[in-house]
Amino acid sequence: MPKLTIDNIELEVPDGTNVLEAARSIGIVIPHFCWHPALGRAGACRVCAVKLLDGPVKGLQMSCMLPVQDGMVVSTTDDEALAMRRAVIEWLMINHPHDCPVCDEGGECQLQDYTIAGGHGIRRYDGKKRTHINQQLGPLIEHEMNRCIQCYRCARFYQEYAGGSDFGVMGRSGAVYFGRQQDGRLESPFSGNLVDICPTGVFTDKTARFRARYWDYDMAPSLCPHCSLGCNTVPMARYRELLKVTARRNDDVNGWFICDRGRFSNAAVNDQERPRQALVDGRQVDMDAALDAALERLNEFIAQHGSGALAIIGSPRMSLEGNLLAARLRDLLGAGALCYFGDLVHAERTMEAVSLLNDGNSASQEDVRCADLVAVMECDLLEQAPMMALAVRQAWRNGARVFIVGGECRPDASYPELFKAEAVLSLADVPLAEAKHPVVICGTRHKGLDSIRLAAGNGAGVVFILDGPNAFGCALLVAEKGAVSLSEALAGGGIKGIIALEADLPDNLPGDIRVLVMADWLPNPVAERAEVFLPATSWVEMDGTYVNHEGRAQRFSRVMQPGLPLRGLTAELHPPRVHRHDAPGGELLPSWRIVAGLLERLGEGNIEEPLNGAWEQLRGLAPDSSGMKITLDTLKRNGAG
Ligand code: FES
Repeated sequence: MPKLTIDNIELEVPDGTNVLEAARSIGIVIPHFCWHPALGRAGACRVCAVKLLDGPVKGLQMSCMLPVQDGMVVSTTDDEALAMRRAVIEWLMINHPHDCPVCDEGGECQLQDYTIAGGHGIRRYDGKKRTHINQQLGPLIEHEMNRCIQCYRCARFYQEYAGGSDFGVMGRSGAVYFGRQQDGRLESPFSGNLVDICPTGVFTDKTARFRARYWDYDMAPSLCPHCSLGCNTVPMARYRELLKVTARRNDDVNGWFICDRGRFSNAAVNDQERPRQALVDGRQVDMDAALDAALERLNEFIAQHGSGALAIIGSPRMSLEGNLLAARLRDLLGAGALCYFGDLVHAERTMEAVSLLNDGNSASQEDVRCADLVAVMECDLLEQAPMMALAVRQAWRNGARVFIVGGECRPDASYPELFKAEAVLSLADVPLAEAKHPVVICGTRHKGLDSIRLAAGNGAGVVFILDGPNAFGCALLVAEKGAVSLSEALAGGGIKGIIALEADLPDNLPGDIRVLVMADWLPNPVAERAEVFLPATSWVEMDGTYVNHEGRAQRFSRVMQPGLPLRGLTAELHPPRVHRHDAPGGELLPSWRIVAGLLERLGEGNIEEPLNGAWEQLRGLAPDSSGMKITLDTLKRNGAG
């Protein structure tokens, strides 16, 4: 490992590290535009200049292009380096429009930051600026080519990292243009990352255009709830409206990126028609009155049918806290059934997946990115877990062989540029033994569990794509608490009433089953049958925990206050005529808090902390940490039943 000195600090870094990365490792940030940890170097922007004072290389150098060598003496603050960096910014600003006040990137723009940091206050160039015609890139991304500084990050991400071919760089003479051959919606399912990766305002989130500045947003570390991967995000909200979602770096999970589904699926949270009102028999009441009514209905139901006729239904889209308290409610009431999954097949396959995975064989997105062989069986990755498809692409780019097993579902069919795969009939045809770091990826529709178990036994990492952000957590609870699927519970014929917590109930729920209590934040087709309806918060309006597909428990934090978004409020509600502490439509509670309210009314005392027993280890898990693996083994070690 080479040793060098940067700004009088001696350090030792792994072979192949460049000077810019070495400086970052000790907290010295050298300005950079084209270098990106996930994309590597391009040497395009020339703003990362440093001075090599002594050693094997001397003089002014681009730190991102210079691999560390033993004995280097680097200064990041040398006058010559500072002057070079300042000059580069000035060149870039010659053509960059001075439109920060109307640019959506303003306040979160690297070019703006470095311009200010470089001490630029006066514009010396008074010539004509180069201008471009912008393109219509679809409803999600705004294009403003005049702001481009030619760092090539967008093209490198889109084409190299994400495998897109409908966007790139075109050049003629002195003109360089980043866009499509013609106007049109960007085809890549990862196109939204252009917004995050562009260091200035060429690509901005059209769905949040002109709505807020960076400092206006309510934001917090959160997770994506749209599949089981648990990608890390930073949702950004203003005036109780979720305006945009950006990727949050987690090297073990999503790296630096998220998919477009995770980024652009805000409509359900902001929907003015979202259920926000507690109801008893369709009558509007406040939350306390609804909880009191729920208790009455429960007592009346149990007196009539007995508690064995009651089923408590949690779900893989509810937080771990809510699902845990659902089990506690079952225990306290002595309910006949506790359910986390709708049908038996779904429940059994998720359970099989979770029982096969352990700390040693459960593979993360990072394990897939680093794999030298990937076998994908019986799942449509782009449909079920798009970021896993992007992880497979990184493995393929690094030389891994990719196999599609069975051929029933071709994960590369809808976006063939992503990776090239070899088709085989069964997992036995995949040369797993020839690989050092093989990974098998399968959906819960898998048929060949024995072959996957065999592969895992021989050292392969395993990924099961599950249904729902907390499906793994629910499967652990099934094992710990003895739950059954809803279809099994109903098949017995003894269930006469249910409490449904963020549960997707079947349309054909028998008419003689009373929906005593329902809590949800999404419109639920069975909600009309609920005797007591309790509106719940969405994930961005609460703190909570999801356990992702690999058994990684991750915390998410509340991003915004619940309540009707200010935009679109009716005249009676906005502007407010009286000062009030509660937001209109804001009387929502996290589902776990709703269950806690029921438990407290049943005599359980104050419930402040839902993570108990074997789950106590997750208390205090930091939302910006890498999370904590929790599998059946670890649960058992921690005393789960
Ligand atoms: Fe080094 Fe752009 S960051 S040349």
